[in-house]
Order: sequence, then structure tokens, then C-alpha cells
Amino acid sequence: MILAMGAPKPRTGLLGDTPRRDYAEKLKLFNTFARPELREAIDALSVPPASRVLDAGCGTGDALGWWRASLPDGAVVVGMDLSAVHATIARGVAAGTPVVQGDLLAPPFADGVFDRVWTINALHHLRDPVAGVRALAKLLRPGGRIAVGQSSLVPDMYFAWDARLEARVNEAVRAYYRDRYGCSESEFTAVRSLVGWLQRAGLRDVGVRTRMIERTHPLAEADERYLLECIFRGTWGERLRNYLRPVDFAELARLCDPGDERYALRRPDFHFLQSLTIAVASG
Ligand SMILES: C[S@@+](CC[C@H](N)C(=O)[O-])C[C@H]1O[C@@H](n2cnc3c(N)ncnc32)[C@H](O)[C@@H]1O
Repeated sequence: MILAMGAPKPRTGLLGDTPRRDYAEKLKLFNTFARPELREAIDALSVPPASRVLDAGCGTGDALGWWRASLPDGAVVVGMDLSAVHATIARGVAAGTPVVQGDLLAPPFADGVFDRVWTINALHHLRDPVAGVRALAKLLRPGGRIAVGQSSLVPDMYFAWDARLEARVNEAVRAYYRDRYGCSESEFTAVRSLVGWLQRAGLRDVGVRTRMIERTHPLAEADERYLLECIFRGTWGERLRNYLRPVDFAELARLCDPGDERYALRRPDFHFLQSLTIAVASG
């Protein structure tokens, strides 16, 4: 589409999201890896019979099938995502489940039609997450509940044997993302205020629980694929070269290379930890 002179450019989200963005492969890898913990979190939320549930920012729709398996009789789940590609994939993954392409800041639903809203790793993509919570809370019926989930509020543990290198790598990733998206440190760290977002949006009965996703050697295939493809190659890799001292970059490259004898995921002492926090509140 050609924009008219002077027309405002479509505003992208804090992390570059637009209706045309596609990182479906990454989402699939994450959901296959974190499936046990995510399913357990869904099963732990009580949902009355005949409820309507919205998965806002549903990505490739993996959770829609888990919701369907968990819901009581007569209840339905609906997906919504900004990305047209993600929404299309979600329709295929969760056949028979309605999935709409839409912006959760201006959701294409009437107010007060959902009993539960579930949104995982999505609100931190917004420039104003509290506005996102408010927009989603308006969709709740009286007595309805919203569950907002976020992984990695505390730093993931990758290298149990080398906290120093891990800290340098984490800082390098933050510096890379600050440069890539032109974000300030405070915009990035705002994600830690999950509970504060719900409070500032005026919601009641805010509760929170953090689960640990924990994996040790020997890893299942889904765990190794997520860590190797999403983290070692997708999040770290060559892009961190200019953000680390050469000696640290060289050490990281060896730990992340399946062809190297020092490959981290083959170490018997490999121990991975990632937090998954879910805050729940009433509308
Ligand atoms: C990190 S992914 C998480 C997807 C999914 N919840 C999951 O756990 O796999 C973030 C998702 O939020 C979507 N998203 C970002 N901004 C959005 C917005 N304003 N409205 C709706 N969806 C949005 C993205 O397209 C992406 O699919």
C-alpha cells in the first residue's frame, strides 16, 4: 500500500508488531517446549460452565486447543491476534475455534461478552500495557476475570556453571534490543510491573503466581530445539558479537555450537530455569 503524502505511518508496537509481522516459528518452538507448564496453568484457572474465554494475542493458537480440552461443557474459547499470519495459522491449528485478526487495544468485540480473558506474553509488546489491560477488562462480564501471563520476569538460568558469562549475555541482549527497537531501559523493564498494570487499570482482587519451567540434561527434543533455535541462534548468535568482549563472545559461540565439545546442552550439569508468572484479577 502506498501512503498518501503526510499520512501518519502505521504505528508499530514497542517490539515492532504490526498486522504483517510473522514470527510463527519462534512461537511454535516456545509453545511446544513450555506446553506442560502452560497447560497446567490453564487447567488451574477455574472456569464456570458455558463460559466464553478470549485468548488475546493468541499467536499461532497452540493455547486454543489446550483451552478447549480444559473447558467445562458448553464453554467456548475465541482467539484474537494482531498478526494476520499468526491468526491464519491459529485457525488451522485450532480448527473449529473462532480466531479474529484484531488489535487488542481496539478489540472487535462488544463490551461485557467474555467471562475470562487470557493473554500470555503479549501485553509487553504494547507501548502502553495498562491501556491494553483496560481495553481487555472492558470485554469482561460482571464478575469476569483476566489472566495476564509473562515469562522471564526474573532472568533465565542457562549456564549454571558460569553466572558471570550469563549476566554479560543478558546485558548484551538488552543492549541489542534497546538499539534495535529504539527503546529506553525503563520501557523494557516495565514488563516487571505485571501486578502494577492490573492495579493501575483499576482491577480488583489481584493475585499472582509464578511457576518455574525447569529442564535438566538429558533434554527432550522439544526443549533442545527451543533452546538451540530460539535462544542460542535466534536471540543470541552473531547479533551479539558487537555487544560482548571478544573472549566472552568466543566462549558463548562454543557453548551454543552443537559441533563443539563444550556445547552447553550436552553437559550433564546443564540446568535451565525460566519463570512463568500469571497475574489474575477481576474486572
Ligand atoms: C510473544 S507472542 C505470544 C503469543 C501467544 N500468546 C503465545 O503465548 O504463544 C505475542 C503475540 O501478541 C500479538 N500482538 C502484539 N501486539 C498485539 C496487539 N496490539 N493486539 C493483538 N495482538 C498483538 C503478536 O502478533 C504475537 O502473536
